[in-house]
Formats: sequence, structure tokens, C-alpha cells
Amino acid sequence: MQIIDGKHVAATFKMQMQQEVAQMSVKPCLVAILVGNDGASETYVGHKEKMCAEIGFESRVDRLSAQTTETELLDHIKMLNNDERVHGFIVQMPLPNHIDEQKVIEAIDPRKDVDGFHPVNVGRMVIGLPSYVSATPKGICDLLKFYNIETSGKNCVVIGRSNIVGRPMSNLLSDKEFNCTVTVAHSRTQNLKEVCAGADIIVAALGKAEFVTADMVKPGAVVIDVGITRIKSDKTKNGWKLVGDVKYDEVAPKCSFITPVPGGVGPMTIISLMRNTIMAANNEIYK
Ligand code: GUN
Repeated sequence: MQIIDGKHVAATFKMQMQQEVAQMSVKPCLVAILVGNDGASETYVGHKEKMCAEIGFESRVDRLSAQTTETELLDHIKMLNNDERVHGFIVQMPLPNHIDEQKVIEAIDPRKDVDGFHPVNVGRMVIGLPSYVSATPKGICDLLKFYNIETSGKNCVVIGRSNIVGRPMSNLLSDKEFNCTVTVAHSRTQNLKEVCAGADIIVAALGKAEFVTADMVKPGAVVIDVGITRIKSDKTKNGWKLVGDVKYDEVAPKCSFITPVPGGVGPMTIISLMRNTIMAANNEIYK
């Protein structure tokens, strides 16, 4: 069994990007719009800002109050769409309930949509055109490639059909780069245990702590765990621990490769966003 070390791969990619950015005539510039003061969003945006500085990007957080109207947010997006100094920007989700997230996503210029959430980028990805791919599936693809994991012709079960993980992941794995035979499982799937037990590769992205158990995993399978849930623990100092969607201790011994939580998929997501921003600065997708 080999543990997929997302921290190591992320550190390697980060160094490559630092070197690339140092050679660029214009520094990539990423802006994050943060509406309100959701604690988790503050943390994520803080990490992104720090990573930008470390890689050598320009970056800034545009903080808007929780009372910002949808129109005001859309106007702010228009302003960033038209600001030539800004290569890419993201609107940190979730947004307050009075704002329609889909409308916001569709207001972003696809050329600056480094989250890869705009339907134009999603559509281009699905038909195999160059596009910004959302951070988590892109990070998983990079991990599979880094570890030279054989995917061609393999049965892959993606558990979860979210717009930002499950759906794009299933599309990417079925494409010619990976050539998997993909099953998308979800909350209405019947006989999920049997479906998973036939998989050579499992991507668990349903958001349920320790859902995938050893009896669902074929010996020698590759298991990619996208989940991250904080649960109570009497074994840690602060009384909490992070777990994935996979019951790691019992599943890991059966696997050929597995991602741990934390330190597997997580560290790669921010790296993917940074890569997308370099691509935006270089006009690599939309020439
Ligand atoms: N909220 C949680 N993950 C993400 C992400 O990748 N992008 C944005 N914009 N918001 C998020």
C-alpha cells in the first residue's frame, strides 16, 4: 500500500510555479471576493492569499459586507471583468442566502474564471476543449499522474455528483487522458456496496464522514478521499480530528494507493487554483 502524499506533490508544484513566475514579465494577479464573514471562508481565502504571496503573485481580497445586494456584487464582478490588471478572480462560496450563486457564477468572464465554475468552462471541459478545471478534480488528476497510477480501461466509481467535484471528476476520468470506465454513484444509487466493490478506483466525494468501509473496497483498489469533516475525538489535544469520507484505518491496508485526510487531496486544491491563475496570466486557455 502506498500513501499518496498530497503535501509533497503540492510542495513540488509550488516550487515549479515559483520558478516560472520569477521568469514572467507580468506577475499573475488573483483577486478573491469575500462576501460577509463566514469563518471557514475567511480561513480558505487567507490560505489563498498567503500562497499567492509565496509563489510571487499579486493578490488581494475584496471584502464586501454580508448586506451587499446581488446587484452590488454583480457590479463588482463587472468591474473585475474589465480590469486588465486582474488575470483571474474567484467569488468565495457560500454566499449569503439573498444572493443567487448561479447568477453570480455566470456573471464572471469565463476568461477570468479560475475556479472553473462558469458553464462555458464546464462545457468546454466536457467536450475536451481547453478550459479552467475546478480545483479539486484538477488536483486529483495531478495526483494520479504524479504517481503514474494506471487508469486506462479501469473501472472507476465516483461517489457524489456535485458541480465542483463529482461531475467534473467523472467527466475527466472518462476522457482520453485517463480512459476510465466511470460510474457516478449518488444518494439514490442501489447496491452501492456492490458497485464500489467492483471498482479499481474509488473517488469518495459525498461529504459523509468515514462512509466508505473496507467491505466496499476491492483488494488492490486506488482510493481517493475528497471528504473533510471535523469530528469529536478523545485522542487529540483539542478534542477534534479531521476525517475523510473513507474509514481510513480499515480501508488503507486493502489499497494499492490511498489519499490520507488531511494531507491527500486537500493541499492540491489551492495549487490547482494557482496553476489556473498562471494560465490566465499567460492567456493559455483563451488565446
Ligand atoms: N468554497 C469552497 N470551495 C471553494 C472554491 O473552490 N471556490 C470558491 N469560490 N468557493 C469555495
